[in-house]
Amino acid sequence: MLLAAAALAAPPPAAAQRHRVSIDSGWRFTLGDAAGAQSRAFDDARWRTLDLPHDWSIEGTPAEAAPGGGRVGYFPTGIGWYRKTLRIQAGARAETWLEFDGVYMNSDVWINGEHLGRRPYGYIGFTYDITKHLGAGDNIIAVRVDNSAQPNSRWYTGSGIYRHVWLTTINPVHVGHWGVYVTTPRADSSSAAVVVRTRVENDDAAARRGVLRSVIVDRAGREAARTEMPFSLAAGQRLELEQRLQVASPQLWSLATPNLYGLRTVLLEGSRVIDSTTTMFGIRTIAYDKDRGFLLNGRQVKLRGVNLHHDGGAVGAAVPERIWQQRLELLKAMGANAIRTSHNPPAPEFLDLCDRLGFLVMAEAFDEWTMGKVAEGYHRYFADWSERDVTDFVQRDRNHPSIVLWSAGNEIGEQTTADGAQVLKRLVDIFHREDPTRPVTTGNDQIYADGHPATTAFLEAEDVVGYNYVDRWHERREIFAEQDRHDHPEWKMIGTESGSIFQSFDDRSSLGSDSTVPRPNYTTGMLQAERLWKWITMRDYFAGNFMWTGVDYLGESTWPFKGFPSGVLDITGRPKDSYFLYQSLWTDRPVLHLFPHWNWRGREGQTIPVLAYTNCNTVELFLNGRSLGEKRIEFPAQGTSGGWNSYALPRVAATTNDLHLSWDVPYQPGVLRAVGTRRDGATCEAEVRTAAAAVAVRLCTDRDTVTAGPGDVASIRFEIVDSSGTAIPMADNLVRFTVTGGSIVAIDNADLRDHESYQSSTRHAFNGRGMAIIRPAGRGVLRVTATADGLRDATLSILVR
Ligand code: GAL
Repeated sequence: MLLAAAALAAPPPAAAQRHRVSIDSGWRFTLGDAAGAQSRAFDDARWRTLDLPHDWSIEGTPAEAAPGGGRVGYFPTGIGWYRKTLRIQAGARAETWLEFDGVYMNSDVWINGEHLGRRPYGYIGFTYDITKHLGAGDNIIAVRVDNSAQPNSRWYTGSGIYRHVWLTTINPVHVGHWGVYVTTPRADSSSAAVVVRTRVENDDAAARRGVLRSVIVDRAGREAARTEMPFSLAAGQRLELEQRLQVASPQLWSLATPNLYGLRTVLLEGSRVIDSTTTMFGIRTIAYDKDRGFLLNGRQVKLRGVNLHHDGGAVGAAVPERIWQQRLELLKAMGANAIRTSHNPPAPEFLDLCDRLGFLVMAEAFDEWTMGKVAEGYHRYFADWSERDVTDFVQRDRNHPSIVLWSAGNEIGEQTTADGAQVLKRLVDIFHREDPTRPVTTGNDQIYADGHPATTAFLEAEDVVGYNYVDRWHERREIFAEQDRHDHPEWKMIGTESGSIFQSFDDRSSLGSDSTVPRPNYTTGMLQAERLWKWITMRDYFAGNFMWTGVDYLGESTWPFKGFPSGVLDITGRPKDSYFLYQSLWTDRPVLHLFPHWNWRGREGQTIPVLAYTNCNTVELFLNGRSLGEKRIEFPAQGTSGGWNSYALPRVAATTNDLHLSWDVPYQPGVLRAVGTRRDGATCEAEVRTAAAAVAVRLCTDRDTVTAGPGDVASIRFEIVDSSGTAIPMADNLVRFTVTGGSIVAIDNADLRDHESYQSSTRHAFNGRGMAIIRPAGRGVLRVTATADGLRDATLSILVR
């Protein structure tokens, strides 16, 4: 509010430049309907004051009878109201836009009692021109959010103004909202062609003329290209201008070096700048090839993707950017290079992170079209809103170099109906109209479905055919898309969703609850994941796959679960064992991960299967110093090169054709240690050991400084440890937190059956661990202390810059 007030308080001169400020702070909020709250005079003094983004669902606790049920993780939904005062100084006159990045859902927005509009879809960004409604003094924005019609989603949505809100003041002659569109139709390391389309608007009462200047600036701030074009606009006219620029020796945007450029768009009247805005973009080319899959800058890249829902776990839908950054960095370190935003448009800052970190994004619009999956789902709005929502989605996001594929929908019912292809074609045309540079797909789960398969007309109406769980259909388990490849050799194909990770999220029972028989959790789910990846990696024509999912998520659950445990990261963002399977396959760094943990009191003498995920050539396992033998993986299979019986690398006498190694080990407490050797001679080690009694809480964090301000939070992990510092996976001690120099946003332990409030200052450890998310109050020192009965406490300090 301060910023906004400051921005507006000083009257912008007649030809002021654009000024865009966050107006996230200082909103009033009440849960439930509030008759008349849109009116200026309404008294909101008793409402709560809070800062956005805000999700009221996550502030509640799961209840079995919640109207949204397990789909939304049993969290509360309902209706809520927000109000905010904008103070405008007398004489301040500028065109003003009010912009919402996302409100879930059915938002109605008023200013000074005047209704600006309604947006049903909760994942879409939208803007209102509020110029004519603003007056000197206090102006009241009121927002009613209606998430009461349930169920309207198959997963946790959150409720409220859960993304940022912005206020932009501009000159009447300006670049339109989402009015810059940059493409790079040709690019290689010697030069790039950049095409810029700019929508220039004249909201003045008189004709205006000027010059549109476009300047490309590299990362170091050096000018890489510039061009100018005169324009003249009648009163009220909007014009799209096209400019072509050349960048010599461009630094291409790639996965390893995600170089970004800034496009500075400037409108001039004479020598006076009347508007300017910067658009980040990347110079890169993409292509899909029926034989070679996906090509980035002309080079074949297999998409190693994960699906991600939009929630951030304990913070619900109002996710601080830092949480996504941590999760994405971990996924990148796993070797993932692609994200599918299942099944809706993501937050703008999420895509900025993907641009900066170097991910390929499949950006998805919907989970439903005309045919519903849930009673109050998007099918109720599809006829009236889908064109508008797709248009806005593409216009907002089409400059992100990370986006390489649009998805019109997930597991859409229309894929099997007689007129389904018509519904799809209409959507594909809108995507193509707004962005002819990227192909469109859908995630299809009914290809070759028993009895009612997807129609060929439907699949042929998309640019790239997307396969969801083709291995689900039993006759085709081992051949996936090969029949289609044979029948439709011209199809371009990609795995949009497959390979659910159902590996246990619960270390305490990862051998099952019956202590007389081990029933390890790495059976079918992980074996399918292994088989799927082998299949994909050996078929060049299949562009890649998005695995379900990168992170555990809220919703889609059955009581007492409040979430779905399909992630390679648990819901606090901690890697599960399965993470290391992918890391061993998708990275070149030495990986050797041994599991399960080694705390099985009561199972002494019982044979416990011990596994390793590794990219080492050989691995030898030792129990308390005694060798249990050396094992080797054989994948990919070796062949001769350069002549009969000549091998490029030392031959491996493999012991398994799986993508994991295993040993049957009679349980005996102590230390289980694995030593791996890589082909280049490098070695790596991993061990699991039996812990002694719990003596202390341990805290750790990945950073020693955090930044003051709303976007940053500190994630602090806690563990229960024994006297030698070994983590105790069975521990469930109650841990209490006290914080100075900041406040608790949420505490979580990754147990999807735990119904404690996330905002509480205490939490039981789960698998001996948990995580606190802390927001710094301001510059200084943030100090976090964790205590637990009978254990030594721990304190951690972080500098706040
Ligand atoms: C898929 C669906 C996802 C999720 C998943 C659970 O079929 O597209 O949204 O429901 O199943 O396994």
